[in-house]
Amino acid sequence: MADILGYKGKRVIVTGCFSGMGEATARLLLDLGAEVHGFDYKDSALPLASFTNVDLRDPASIEAAVAKLGGRIDALFNCAGLPGGGGFPAMDTMKVNFIGTRHLTECVLPLMAGGGAIVSIASTGGLGWSRRIPVHMDLLKTEGFQGALDWAEAHMDQVSEGYAFSKEAIIVWTQYMGAQLIKKGIRINCSLPSPTQTPMMATFHATSGKDVVDAAAEPLGRYTTAAEQAGPIVLLCSDAMSVVNGIVLPVDGGFMGGLTTGQVDISKMIGKAKASA
Ligand SMILES: NC(=O)c1ccc[n+]([C@@H]2O[C@H](COP(=O)([O-])OP(=O)(O)OC[C@H]3O[C@@H](n4cnc5c(N)ncnc54)[C@H](O)[C@@H]3O)[C@@H](O)[C@H]2O)c1
Repeated sequence: MADILGYKGKRVIVTGCFSGMGEATARLLLDLGAEVHGFDYKDSALPLASFTNVDLRDPASIEAAVAKLGGRIDALFNCAGLPGGGGFPAMDTMKVNFIGTRHLTECVLPLMAGGGAIVSIASTGGLGWSRRIPVHMDLLKTEGFQGALDWAEAHMDQVSEGYAFSKEAIIVWTQYMGAQLIKKGIRINCSLPSPTQTPMMATFHATSGKDVVDAAAEPLGRYTTAAEQAGPIVLLCSDAMSVVNGIVLPVDGGFMGGLTTGQVDISKMIGKAKASA
């Protein structure tokens, strides 16, 4: 059968390849014949073409990793992330989920040619993005890692615990950059997973409460798996998606559609779960 996804021989980077969705994404790309280069601050045991220890909180670490890898890059999978709270400082969450991820993408872009593709994992936790687009556009005007960090430190009222804001920022940035990068033939998209059984889940339960997390898993009625999240983002960066660009793809078993059509009322569901607890 024809290789409609077109990953054979492609050089790709996967961040967050140590665990969860990043690891599942790297595994799938290896199965599809890609040359997979992993970036994480924890070592990966996968049979990757290369692994580089990168701390997304540190611009020098990001720049050194991209310089060391060099060459042509066909696709970038921004899977690394931190939850908010649970002992993680808000600014670490902002750095990993948005500031460092944007910086890495900007470092990789000069290595990409037409046909290149980028995807970032955002979250249904960022669904409030449309309420404060001007705030996010202001953040997007900043230049480089330090510019965004200075902005975030001056806007802690918006950033709060870091998670929702950083995911909203990825969503607005993806849509903004989609309209810019397509002029060079490069695509950028993001996904919005619903609750997924990965190591991060323990922190979500501790900080938001299991009831709230469970409510966001409706109408599917269960958490998704890391592999179920990897498939759609691998598809998004594939040749089969050649004009799919700047989109925000819910990977949530129907949560977003249920909310839009009034069939999922998250506030009622949380209330009911609390009442019966
Ligand atoms: N699990 C969920 O329910 C859920 C839901 C929506 C979105 N997400 C998002 O999915 C993405 C993947 O998370 P996951 O659920 O697979 O969790 P995970 O904790 O298994 O994976 C996160 C990865 O990011 C890496 N990482 C963390 N800090 C880093 C740093 N400073 N530098 C480099 N790498 C770093 C970790 O080592 C790990 O490999 C994250 O962006 C997360 O916010 C998760």
